[in-house]
Amino acid sequence: MIFLFYDKYKCRNCGHDIAVNDDGVFHAELNTEATSTVRDISLTVTCPVEGCVCPSPEKDNEPTRELIEVIPSARRLMGSLRDEGYNFVTAAADIIDNSIQAGAKEIRILMEFNGDHSWFQIADDGKGMTGAELTEAMRFGSEREYEANELGKFGLGLKTASISQCRKLTVASRSATHGNEIEIRQLNIDRIMDSNRWEIISISKEDYSDILWKYLIDHHGTIVMWESLDRMMQYDPPDGMRARKGFVRLARDLEKHIRMIFHRFLSGELGDDRKISISINGTPLEPWDPFARKEKTVKVAEKTIAVVGYDNVFKVHYTAYVLPPKEKFSSSAAFSDTAGPKGWNLQQGFYIYRENRMIQSGGWCRMRVPDEHTKLARIALDLGKDADFSLGLNIMKTSITLPPNLKADLEPMVASVIKQARGAYEPEKNRTPPVSTNPPTIQQQSEPIGRDIRIELGRSESSFTGPVSSMETDQPRVTEKISKSLASSLERAAVKAGETDALRRIRMALIKDDPIAASKIGW
Ligand SMILES: Nc1ncnc2c1ncn2[C@@H]1O[C@H](COP(=O)(O)OP(=O)(O)OP(=O)(O)O)[C@@H](O)[C@H]1O
Ligand SMILES: [Mg+2]
Repeated sequence: MIFLFYDKYKCRNCGHDIAVNDDGVFHAELNTEATSTVRDISLTVTCPVEGCVCPSPEKDNEPTRELIEVIPSARRLMGSLRDEGYNFVTAAADIIDNSIQAGAKEIRILMEFNGDHSWFQIADDGKGMTGAELTEAMRFGSEREYEANELGKFGLGLKTASISQCRKLTVASRSATHGNEIEIRQLNIDRIMDSNRWEIISISKEDYSDILWKYLIDHHGTIVMWESLDRMMQYDPPDGMRARKGFVRLARDLEKHIRMIFHRFLSGELGDDRKISISINGTPLEPWDPFARKEKTVKVAEKTIAVVGYDNVFKVHYTAYVLPPKEKFSSSAAFSDTAGPKGWNLQQGFYIYRENRMIQSGGWCRMRVPDEHTKLARIALDLGKDADFSLGLNIMKTSITLPPNLKADLEPMVASVIKQARGAYEPEKNRTPPVSTNPPTIQQQSEPIGRDIRIELGRSESSFTGPVSSMETDQPRVTEKISKSLASSLERAAVKAGETDALRRIRMALIKDDPIAASKIGW
């Protein structure tokens, strides 16, 4: 057998020359035609020479190596982990993700203002954790296998979200399947700063206020409690009126955020078994539907796109809506409520969902800028976890970057929604559709091409009644549109040929070497 690459070793016991091939398998015969390379592989193998009992061959001129485990400095790292970029509402949403992941049906949030002793708590009736599971859960980078549609990914959220807001994180849990014990673990930043060790404290319930664990007397579930709220409560004095008002403001912001981010879970539209209720200090939260589907909103397009990602092909479900203008809302209160936390202008654009949890609420992902005249356009993009890598999901699960080929696919679709949103916003101006005296434009002729080449896995277009003037276009934009469809054709061909990896490499190389050409074909 000829091995193109091998490393040369000498058996410690019999002194034989032996070789290892590229798969790391040892052989007694040396192939002299082979190219010798120096490779770094494990030496915990048995000598392949017959009769030799040496447990491990010794490599020629092997330098002495010693493995040293370097544990990160807890004190130093804790500081930077606190500054991952969470704010109060995004941190709380990460804790709620865990409750949903644990199958909770009811999530109760309690916020108590008491100056320096104020606290924040999220209690759920999910499956809970045993003592060992809870200890693992408190580890930065906790280890476990995830199911297909789970929200967790990094094994960090519980810890990083909590310490971004408080100095003392205490978790109490009672498992649904293993006994009735209430287990409590605490991560105390001040203690870690003193000891410079990654340690957590196991506490018995008799030694902690029942505010933490009394909910678990009758239920299985988990309670996450934040105390020493140094990041949430930066007021002097900590128990003054400004501090109190600030605390109330946080509760209001949280209410808006949760109603928006988890609206599909709150509304029950995912099915009864996935419906959850969330309350803040006893007040149940209603879902906030960004698309105001109970009003005269029009669904203008829906389709599924297959996208060639960095290391796979994933699907994006696209649903575009044009919301009604103010005068067509059922009430001015409904119109104001639909404005959303950031207001009408900033809430236009993409609503990106990962496994039904919203990770981006409005904004055009650098494809457009917000504009008063297009504020009625809102588009849902639904993604699964398989898109995480290609979209560069961050630890807080609050931002992603749309890959260029997905943007190219979305561009013509977005342009069409924008036109319809403008029409709905300016009904007077657009009431009479422009009469064209010209022969059909190239865009009209090329439209079927654009539609044909996209990988559509499902599609339904509604009969939006607003005026659409699809004939206003010029030659360069038409050419650009046709050339951008090339990317989709190539991607479809690559999927068919099973060469998506090769196409990805070609795309990366072209983007690097000739970005203008890449952008012209839609990459
Ligand atoms: N409320 C809860 N109920 C049951 N188990 C929980 C709960 N919160 C956390 N856990 C367990 O603790 C683990 C660690 O949680 P953590 O939020 O740190 O990471 P993750 O959810 O796995 O990933 P991510 O960093 O993406 O959030 C979870 O995977 C889960 O097993
Ligand atoms: Mg989590």
